[in-house]
Amino acid sequence: MADKITPLIAGNWKMNGTSASLAEIARLAGLLAAGPPPRCTVLICPPATLLAPLTAIAAPAGILTGGQDCHPRPSGAHTGDIGAPMLADAGARYVILGHSERRADHAEGSELVCSKAAAAIGAGLTPIICVGETEAERRSGDAERVVATQLAASVPGDWGGCGIAVAYEPVWAIGTGLTPTAADIARMHATIRQLLEARFGAAGAGVPILYGGSLKPGNARDILAIENVNGGLVGGASLLANDFHAIISAV
Ligand code: 13P
Repeated sequence: MADKITPLIAGNWKMNGTSASLAEIARLAGLLAAGPPPRCTVLICPPATLLAPLTAIAAPAGILTGGQDCHPRPSGAHTGDIGAPMLADAGARYVILGHSERRADHAEGSELVCSKAAAAIGAGLTPIICVGETEAERRSGDAERVVATQLAASVPGDWGGCGIAVAYEPVWAIGTGLTPTAADIARMHATIRQLLEARFGAAGAGVPILYGGSLKPGNARDILAIENVNGGLVGGASLLANDFHAIISAV
């Protein structure tokens, strides 16, 4: 990992968790307190229903929290949606945007993701902007072009103070137990880094690029050691304190 970038290990709970799951955060806090200080920023993105109570437990332990989506507008007649200022008000510091599950389930395109990212930045949140190719795109040799196109259209041009993070999540690796080879991860992260630097100069060199997709305690050490991998976006393994703590400890 580049020394200048503080690694970020982010848990994406997706549509999982009820108030009973708060005990898992208390367990994670206990595990973190019992060991050496983590060498990374630790973030949990629970469902919105848990954001405020989870933040109350997480914040004293130094664990940050984030949302999983936001609307491009701060408030208004948008039934079922959540504005970025609402996430911030509930304690969020980050928000995951453009996750492939939202791109697929809700037909979100990169232009919408970009407007959501601008809204997040406006509310003082750091967006974690997700990109990644499908299995068919990988097989047809199109992965880098797809990711480059998503990145160009999803990342807003102006993100000053709170910064951004990018997560490379190959769709075919999410929840499948499959991961790209180390060489494929290295190549894609290097491509993303080059594109960020070409567009944003030194600021682009400082953007954390996370890897996501079947990141587990058993593969975290190897994947997190790859150049330009500045942390992870963890799904299933973030639901259990022991597994998530093992990934944090692998940094
Ligand atoms: P898994 O870690 O369960 O494969 O999920 C990855 C992911 O989609 C994180 O956003």
